[in-house]
Amino acid sequence: MRFATATLTLLAASPAVVSAAGKLGWALGNKKEDGSTCKTSSDYEDDFDAIKSETGSTVVRTYSATDCNTTSHILPAAKSKDFQIVLGIWVYSDDEDDASFVNDFAEVKKVVEDGEYNDYIYAVTVGSESLYREDVSGDFLNKRIKTVKEAMPDGIKVGTADSWNKFQDGTANPVIEGGYADILLANAFSYWQGQKISNATGSFYDDVYQAFGVIQEKSGSTDGIELWVGETGWPTDGDDYQNAEPSVANAEQFYHEAICGMTTWGFNVFVFEAFDEPGKEGAVGEDGTVADETHWGAMNADRTLKWDSGLKC
Ligand SMILES: *[C@@H]1O[C@H](CO)[C@@H](O)[C@H](O)[C@H]1NC(C)=O
Ligand SMILES: *[C@@H]1O[C@H](CO)[C@@H](O)[C@H](O)[C@H]1NC(C)=O
Repeated sequence: MRFATATLTLLAASPAVVSAAGKLGWALGNKKEDGSTCKTSSDYEDDFDAIKSETGSTVVRTYSATDCNTTSHILPAAKSKDFQIVLGIWVYSDDEDDASFVNDFAEVKKVVEDGEYNDYIYAVTVGSESLYREDVSGDFLNKRIKTVKEAMPDGIKVGTADSWNKFQDGTANPVIEGGYADILLANAFSYWQGQKISNATGSFYDDVYQAFGVIQEKSGSTDGIELWVGETGWPTDGDDYQNAEPSVANAEQFYHEAICGMTTWGFNVFVFEAFDEPGKEGAVGEDGTVADETHWGAMNADRTLKWDSGLKC
């Protein structure tokens, strides 16, 4: 599917490309409902049961291979429930000895060399918004991706996740053009852009369209790199962010219009996030204000639904 760098008006006017529906995946936290204890394999199994029965999806993404020993707890659960996991290698800085990278990479390398769970590893992301936070440069991130790619067997995709505007503004060009990334995830939050819910779907499409357009242009291919929305969603409670208001009704509307709209159209989307995370720290928006991040789940922390229309697209 080809994206051109175009405005929302053009996008709305262009004919929908008829193709298979995109995949739906879920971002998943690694703490139990109490907000502090690390999840075990049986917690992940319960998460997977709820995600599969409520949404039909069998793909989740995680952020750090070693934090909470996520890899060793989640992969046995994935095998027993037939789920696919995106493992994360955290990139904290451009220090060669960056412990986040070194430890997460060692853990991922160990597990793929062992091989028992390789069929359940969908991909490995190297860094999550590390360009957006200006923790590393595009060149440095590309070097990290190369290191990981060269250590992975065929069949395990490697790439990164970053904010849509870091793809759109060229910061990620070294990664796109580097030739090592098989998969790229662009995060786009209309909420964090302070949009009213009435403009949230249009703004989301516009962001994603711009990011994917640049990736396709710089990689010189429409299908060389697998593309996903890496994170999107809407909080059900918490603080207003500029004109964006958290509420169950707004989250429900965003889910069905923006998220299901994207997958129906043929694009892959990871939703942020599956379940509320009561222990999560506040997130800092682009304007510097801090907003609560404990109510972003499409489901409650106890895995019950938040709205009657459910989560099937
Ligand atoms: C992770 O696993 C190691 C080795 O089994 C253990 O020593 C450590 O306490 C665990 N850490 C967490 C946060 O569960
Ligand atoms: C709606 O979203 C578009 C795309 O992000 C943006 O350009 C426009 O300013 C927004 N409209 C309003 C009224 O905020």
